[in-house]
Amino acid sequence: MERPCLSRRRALGMVPLTAAGMGALAACGPEDEGFGDANPVRAEDGAISLDDVPENQTTLVNFGGQQPFVALVRGTGEDITAFSGYCTHNGCALAKEQDELHCPCHGSGFDPSTGEVLRGPASTHLPTVPIVVENNTVRRDR
Ligand code: FES
Repeated sequence: MERPCLSRRRALGMVPLTAAGMGALAACGPEDEGFGDANPVRAEDGAISLDDVPENQTTLVNFGGQQPFVALVRGTGEDITAFSGYCTHNGCALAKEQDELHCPCHGSGFDPSTGEVLRGPASTHLPTVPIVVENNTVRRDR
């Protein structure tokens, strides 16, 4: 069952500061894979076809396993860079929104092409994720 992940500001406006309220805030983190509107493309058997990764765009992909969300930044052809799909502030899964990768937990924003922080509270860029491109597919390099 998916649980919503509220921003701290929204949560504080809705939930009295009780132990239950603080528990709800603590629920936002890496264990909440797939919450909210992250909506990544699912890679079957740990790989995704290049045909499913549009050129000159950033695509959020769920590769499965630990920390499954990865932002694939494709230029043209096999020019692909990958960044973690998790916020560097507290580990929430990112969502692609217009011109940024947005963190629904506390509002950080990241450049979808470079992984650089556009807006805090996160202060660290998204780390790169090693990938392999071969036979018209992309997979994580384990
Ligand atoms: S987890 Fe706090 S801004 Fe992303």
